[in-house]
Amino acid sequence: MFDLTYRPRRLRTSQGMRDLVRETSLDVSDLIYPLFIVPGTGVREEISSLPGQYHLSVDEAVKVAQEAYDLGIRGVEIFGIPTYKDERGSSAWDLAEPVQQAIKAIRQAVPDLLVVSDVCLCQFTSTGHCGMIDEHEILNDETLPLLCQVAVSHAQAGAHMVAPSDMMDGRVGAIREALDAVGFKNVSIMSYAAKYASAYYGPFRDAVHSAPKFGDRKSYQMDPGNRLEAMREIELDIVEGADIIMIKPALCYLDIVREARYQYNMPLAVYNVSGEYAMVKTAAAQGLIDEQRLVLETMMSFKRAGAKIIITYHAMDIARWLKA
Ligand code: PBG
Ligand code: ZN
Repeated sequence: MFDLTYRPRRLRTSQGMRDLVRETSLDVSDLIYPLFIVPGTGVREEISSLPGQYHLSVDEAVKVAQEAYDLGIRGVEIFGIPTYKDERGSSAWDLAEPVQQAIKAIRQAVPDLLVVSDVCLCQFTSTGHCGMIDEHEILNDETLPLLCQVAVSHAQAGAHMVAPSDMMDGRVGAIREALDAVGFKNVSIMSYAAKYASAYYGPFRDAVHSAPKFGDRKSYQMDPGNRLEAMREIELDIVEGADIIMIKPALCYLDIVREARYQYNMPLAVYNVSGEYAMVKTAAAQGLIDEQRLVLETMMSFKRAGAKIIITYHAMDIARWLKA
């Protein structure tokens, strides 16, 4: 029997040793928790496509936001279902609507919690598309002023950070200019820089009734086959003034995260999307996997790939597990 000089297993002999040499860490401060706001009061209804997630009226959302903050979560991202829809999606910038009311109420009740808002039109347009429509074409430049109005209305309601998810060209620059013009120089922008046209958004679209009424989102969201194009999208958003770059979905796109980490010296976020969450919850409900271990391993993979910020529906569970 020959002597082995290198025995990698020496560094795995005890929990103390494994902790000592672990290269990547997961902290509750990495997490952003999405909230789904609906009209009304006293509403807390489980979303059938997202088990464990809830449709919340503003008053209930404030309670959940407080709970998240008490668990150490630093940020929530606000999504909403409006009281009305039209072709331009004008409920998206209506200060009386659930999204703006929730932003305002959470800022008041939980002042140290970061409030991020999703900026898009698809929940608010009668077409279910993220932009203005001419016949069946999704218009780019005509959509930008509308997105600017949405972002400004969120800032007026008190959002710390706006997160445009529409994938129109030039929207980060337009939104930056619009925010600055009305004095919101310190409202930051987290851009969904590389957002792919993905089947993984299905449960989310069910949850907020935002599926397109015709066609698909392939003329604005990215082709899953493209990696170099993601780097160009990210670069454009940085040049236009994005403060944080997001890649979405997360699991299938960790090569993009890794490459972005190498190429750009920017805070990176991943969105662990609804389909990724629903797969885990379904497998866990059937007893096929150990949910806690699987989720923590998944989060570690996002961190290892180079993301700092993780937007995830698992955030509350993770926060509890990390505390225990
Ligand atoms: C709106 C938006 C979507 C998601 C976040 N913002 C859906 C879409 O683009 O159709 C997806 C989130 C998820 O699946 O968890 N543009
Ligand atoms: Zn959209």
